[in-house]
Amino acid sequence: MATTPQEAIDGQGTGAGGALQEAAKRHLWMHFTRMSSYRDAEVPIIVRGDGCYVYDEAGKRYLDGLSALFCVNAGHGRTEIGEAMAAQVSELGFYTNWSYAHPRAIELAERIAGYAPGDLERVFFTSGGSESVESALKLCRIYHRHNGEGGRYKVIAREIAYHGTTMGALTATGIPDLRAPFEPLNPGGRHAPNTNSYRWPADRDPLWAADQIEERILFEGPETVSAVILEPVQNAGGCFTPQDGYWQRVREICDRYGVLLISDEVICSWGRLGHWFGCERYGYQPDIVTTAKGLTSAYSPMGAVIASAKVAAPFLEGTSMFTHGFTFGGHPVSAAAALANLDIFEREDLCGHVRAKEGELRQTLEDLRDIPIVGDVRGAGFFHAIELVKDRDTKETFDDDESEWLLRGFLSGALYENGLICRADDRGDPVIQLSPPLIADSEQFAEIGATLRKVLTEAADRVAAER
Ligand SMILES: Cc1ncc(COP(=O)(O)O)c(C=O)c1O
Repeated sequence: MATTPQEAIDGQGTGAGGALQEAAKRHLWMHFTRMSSYRDAEVPIIVRGDGCYVYDEAGKRYLDGLSALFCVNAGHGRTEIGEAMAAQVSELGFYTNWSYAHPRAIELAERIAGYAPGDLERVFFTSGGSESVESALKLCRIYHRHNGEGGRYKVIAREIAYHGTTMGALTATGIPDLRAPFEPLNPGGRHAPNTNSYRWPADRDPLWAADQIEERILFEGPETVSAVILEPVQNAGGCFTPQDGYWQRVREICDRYGVLLISDEVICSWGRLGHWFGCERYGYQPDIVTTAKGLTSAYSPMGAVIASAKVAAPFLEGTSMFTHGFTFGGHPVSAAAALANLDIFEREDLCGHVRAKEGELRQTLEDLRDIPIVGDVRGAGFFHAIELVKDRDTKETFDDDESEWLLRGFLSGALYENGLICRADDRGDPVIQLSPPLIADSEQFAEIGATLRKVLTEAADRVAAER
């Protein structure tokens, strides 16, 4: 007989083979998940969160070293965000931003514009990151059309970058395994090298990757290029930071060819890099910022496209409009969650905390460099990666089978069993990624360091035994 969700929650579902497990295996379609791997294994069911920690259905505690999915920035268990959402439901549960406005969306738009650098002042709300990227790409195209340049439809992103999964956003995503199954994609997606300099020749010009964007624009024909979309620090591949001057060079290139610059800050805004926006950290002025995740610390789904005065201008005159929208864009309950979340950021100075403590997090990871498979440590703010290699001196990486065995066969399970949630990923070369809640402090860094040392040492021993 089918179990109702409430029966499952009431406790009958806890433990091995419980009703909640059974219902998950039978009915829940998990995202980006090999569901067959749970046929004979337990689905990890997280039932509660508190600060930097979450708890599974058996009551076991885990350090959430990934802020769930780079998003619970203010940490778990912030009941005041829930209280703000409940108050909003009592006042106005929903109204739309299609031709109408409501107080929370207006207040939030004003507040975001106040935080955003320069003339990034017009906020278009979405329900998440992919919708933000999708909207930004469409906005760029219609912007150029308004300026009599309808031939500009291409978008240049970087290799291995992740910009979301909807068909438009997927055009920008530079991960072949995510693109290939859905081809033909929307036309116009082009890719340039990323900033991962770990294996670059020592004498390569530090601004090579920036200049490759110009090469790409020239190759395509500037009159066909609409936008360049890049993350301040690229997530997929493992926290690729920009070279000094990279962003200034990219800005110059975009200006030279009339191409719009989108800073995709779905991860890198809201304190992740120690600033409201990642572009502030690296001192550049994008035409558009895309954001989501940490805006509400993920207590409610919400994203936003923040456009400069220049980009918004054509849509403020005459009969012109951005013919685009989502029912839930600017949802009042999500907007109330975002405002309460930003109150926490202000009160606890979470951006300042990240700036003060990122060196300590970094040192914790640097201290692991004596483990033979630790090849590189990189990142910024509370957003770091460790690249794993077969041989530290030659930087030899793992082949596909070895990577599968190392990451999925051992590391993911071992880290979780040892109470640390982080990401073991091989969309580029194999990496472990860490992105803890922005309230994490010395105690959590020590725990991260100890667990990684234990598990990576065992992994290194296994790698050595295989050779
Ligand atoms: C840079 C970037 N852009 C877009 C997205 C897509 O966001 P969502 O999963 O909310 O659709 C992500 C998700 O991680 C991301 O990291």
